[in-house]
Amino acid sequence: MITKLYKKYIYKARLRNAFVVADIVLTFKKGNTTVKRYPAIAATHEKDDYLEYVFYLPQGLNPKNMLEKEYIFNQTFGQSYDLTGDGLKYSLKIFTKQDESIKIYNDTEIKACLKGGLPIIAGYDHFNKLVSYNMVTDPHLLIAGETGSGKSVMLRVILTTLLIHKRRMIDFYLADMKRTEFHLFRNCEGVQQVITDKKKLKKAVLAIHKELETRGDLLDEHGLEHIDEYNKIKGIDKKKYILLCIDEVALLRKETATMDKIEDISTQGRALGIFLILSMQRPDAKILDGQLKSNLTVRYAFRHADLINSNITLGSGNNVDASKINKAEKGKFYMRHEVIKQLQAPYLSLEHAKELLEPIKHVPIEDPHENEFDVEVTDLTLPGSEDDE
Ligand SMILES: Nc1ncnc2c1ncn2[C@@H]1O[C@H](COP(=O)(O)OP(=O)(O)OP(=O)(O)O)[C@@H](O)[C@H]1O
Ligand SMILES: [Mg+2]
Repeated sequence: MITKLYKKYIYKARLRNAFVVADIVLTFKKGNTTVKRYPAIAATHEKDDYLEYVFYLPQGLNPKNMLEKEYIFNQTFGQSYDLTGDGLKYSLKIFTKQDESIKIYNDTEIKACLKGGLPIIAGYDHFNKLVSYNMVTDPHLLIAGETGSGKSVMLRVILTTLLIHKRRMIDFYLADMKRTEFHLFRNCEGVQQVITDKKKLKKAVLAIHKELETRGDLLDEHGLEHIDEYNKIKGIDKKKYILLCIDEVALLRKETATMDKIEDISTQGRALGIFLILSMQRPDAKILDGQLKSNLTVRYAFRHADLINSNITLGSGNNVDASKINKAEKGKFYMRHEVIKQLQAPYLSLEHAKELLEPIKHVPIEDPHENEFDVEVTDLTLPGSEDDE
């Protein structure tokens, strides 16, 4: 087995070799001798799932000379690398965690999967095709699976994708009952609240429920069936979609008032553009009792404890058993959406997600009265995204 340390040196040697074979070099005369100067590898950073090499081009070498030869990195490291930078400084990340079953989050493949409505990323099928579905037509999703099976990474993939590409259509309410995951979404454009305590969640759910009623009244008034039709009325104040996502909803077992409202949202949300994504380790019968479970029509079942639990999530009589997923097969799951299929979720590390979200982060607004010498913030225009909708 190749140790991590060994890998670090092998890849460094391969990178040096790549510069040589692709002729990424500055050649000049010094007296009678010809000098060749290759890019200098200035730093190596080891992360959980990638090795990063920071290198500098020699001054005088046209960056085009290297960018035109980027194919050499593909030939050397396969698909599992990412090159960023400009001018003289570059960063090459080589994803070391990748084995045949792991699919690193790839923005190009994600973009190709984003047609129509609100695309929710699922995973790669047996043909290596990335599958997604439209939340506007299938409004509520349940993600269930044992600890460490890949639920939170899946949520990171879904939410990061929506935030990068669809944030102007959605108000996000993100509740992280374990306080470990959603901090990275704080201050992102589109994110109304990141909630980590039950009281605040109750408040947010009540507010969303009130909006549910307001929207219901609006549709009644106009004799319409769906919020999308209402939004087509000329001159109207458009209603965005609302997404309430709760990681580890089972921790709300005793919050009956909150859960009742969530159940209402699951019943009426489809027509009103208010959608749910709920995750839980065990498909908890008490939480999923009755209406809520049947309204969560799309299900992602990661590794389950046993067939009984698998059947609670996926339904019985389908010859599928999510407890047969091996513990080591992180990110593998069954998706129930029309039919049941086995998929592999893309892997998006925390560092990678942070990088992707960086351009859509607000600068947190300070209280202008806190310091009388504060400069008034007048321009809060955020950098847009070309790909937005
Ligand atoms: N799609 C994936 N591809 C490869 N590895 C993954 C994938 N999803 C998760 N993993 C690995 O499994 C680990 C645990 O995943 P994750 O945190 O999503 O589990 P979880 O189901 O949310 O667990 P818990 O219920 O304890 O919160 C990750 O840190 C990562 O190393
Ligand atoms: Mg988790």
